Amino acid sequence: MPLSQTLLTRIALDITSGLSHRDRFARLVDTVKANLGCDAAALLEFRDRHFVPLATAGLAEDVAGRHFAIDSHPRLEAIARAGDLVRFPADSALPDPYDGLIPNQEDRLHVHACIGLPLFDDEKLIGALTLDAFDPQRFDNLGTMELRALGALSAASLKNALLLDKLERVSLLGQGSREANNDSPPMVGNAPVMESLRQEILAVAGTDLNVLILGETGTGKELVARAVHQASPRAGKALVYLNCAALPESVAESELFGHVKGAFTGAISHRSGKFETADKGTLFLDEIGELPLGLQAKLLRVLQYGDVQRIGDDRSLKVDVRIIAATNKDLKQEVLAGRFRADLYHRLSVFPLHVPTLRERPEDLGPLCGHFLEQSRKSLGLSVLRIRPDALSRLKNHDWPGNVRELEHVIKRAATLARAASDDGAVMIEPQMLAIGGQSASVPVQSPAAVAQVEGKNLKEATDAFQAAYISQVLSANRGNWASTARALGLDPGNLHRLAKRLGLK
Ligand SMILES: Nc1ncnc2c1ncn2[C@@H]1O[C@H](COP(=O)(O)OP(=O)(O)OP(=O)(O)O)[C@@H](O)[C@H]1O
Ligand SMILES: [Mg+2]
Repeated sequence: MPLSQTLLTRIALDITSGLSHRDRFARLVDTVKANLGCDAAALLEFRDRHFVPLATAGLAEDVAGRHFAIDSHPRLEAIARAGDLVRFPADSALPDPYDGLIPNQEDRLHVHACIGLPLFDDEKLIGALTLDAFDPQRFDNLGTMELRALGALSAASLKNALLLDKLERVSLLGQGSREANNDSPPMVGNAPVMESLRQEILAVAGTDLNVLILGETGTGKELVARAVHQASPRAGKALVYLNCAALPESVAESELFGHVKGAFTGAISHRSGKFETADKGTLFLDEIGELPLGLQAKLLRVLQYGDVQRIGDDRSLKVDVRIIAATNKDLKQEVLAGRFRADLYHRLSVFPLHVPTLRERPEDLGPLCGHFLEQSRKSLGLSVLRIRPDALSRLKNHDWPGNVRELEHVIKRAATLARAASDDGAVMIEPQMLAIGGQSASVPVQSPAAVAQVEGKNLKEATDAFQAAYISQVLSANRGNWASTARALGLDPGNLHRLAKRLGLK
């Protein structure tokens, strides 16, 4: 079907109309798909050598959460390099990133028509529009000039959206602040509850207020903490992490505040604490609900006066630290029960952020699956990793008490099982590979000794391999929750933390 002047005009009007960016982009790809006879169309943003889907039509819903690294998707890399539209030959040997992701197309996309339009802001690549059709001749009479015009329209719309996003961010962060960079892992999900969370993150990031992040286990509190720091004027300084649960009381004070040489037996040199390390930056106190009462009093003092005293030192040091705390406990309840100081609670909870459970945002399940599938695909070195629609429905019917972390574990585990069950690089996750709802995946569970592969190892290496395999199993049985894993293994959480780190599990 030729790309008529009228259609281009309609697209131009569509994407300048007063809709939200998301709706506008959705309309763009829908119009393109319907009018050019594509089986799939997608608008992608280019960010840090990745193409990130902004809107798709005709593609599986998990595509929305897949961030395609150009280094592992040669077709996208070709588009990123091209400088102009790319028409791939119908029999091109380059794998298609949407391979297996176009519903009702079980076969791989061997021969098909495919066009990529790179989108530019001046010289800078900001995105791409991709068109795919099963009929290899489908795009033959689309003129190059018209396609370029379509590309230019899409680019203008995308550029505008990115500019507005940036302005919004800058005004929320206040003057002179750095732009948020992309060091932290992406927060996937566009459910309204997530959009409001993002707005709140941006709003608080520009201030120096303490932030208290609340939410059930596995909802993404740590991700939120990173996002606040990254979007704040302190982003160029340290984000120091301290897990209050993994902190034996005996060393906690020195961890937080440091000590001077000779302050206590074993204090053989000066040591600065987390507060000093975090000076001008952010201190993230994770699992704050586990902080012993004695230390709560000391922490309160620092928050009130902004100075710390190393153990064994009379002098105090001024520090400029922004506190972000997180907990999955109901801190108010802890206050009522006398386990958490009310005054500290009030100091910390100036700006509470509630991270929604997965149950509150069912529409994000598909994109989150896509995100973890793409991660697994990469780490397992597969060319294609997809999930059968009935397996995705099973995931949708589960209620996810362990939230995003549980989902991540279920998918990563299923991906490993699926790979073992497949004999080429294209792997499909089947429903029975999903260990959810207390059921184990119906692939025989091996004893950790069998999984550990100890052959040819010395005793130390074999022991490590066994420990790693056993801890991983207990961890996945506990939905990735480290605290309950420690309980199940009869270990102190701090010791488990250190052991897991040494074994490379964390
Ligand atoms: N919105 C999201 N997008 C992508 N990944 C996410 C998202 N939310 C959580 N995750 C992933 O899920 C896992 C758990 O997240 P995180 O550690 O931040 O949870 P948490 O709320 O701190 O859990 P806990 O209370 O058990 O400490 C991490 O691997 C994180 O990267
Ligand atoms: Mg956490």
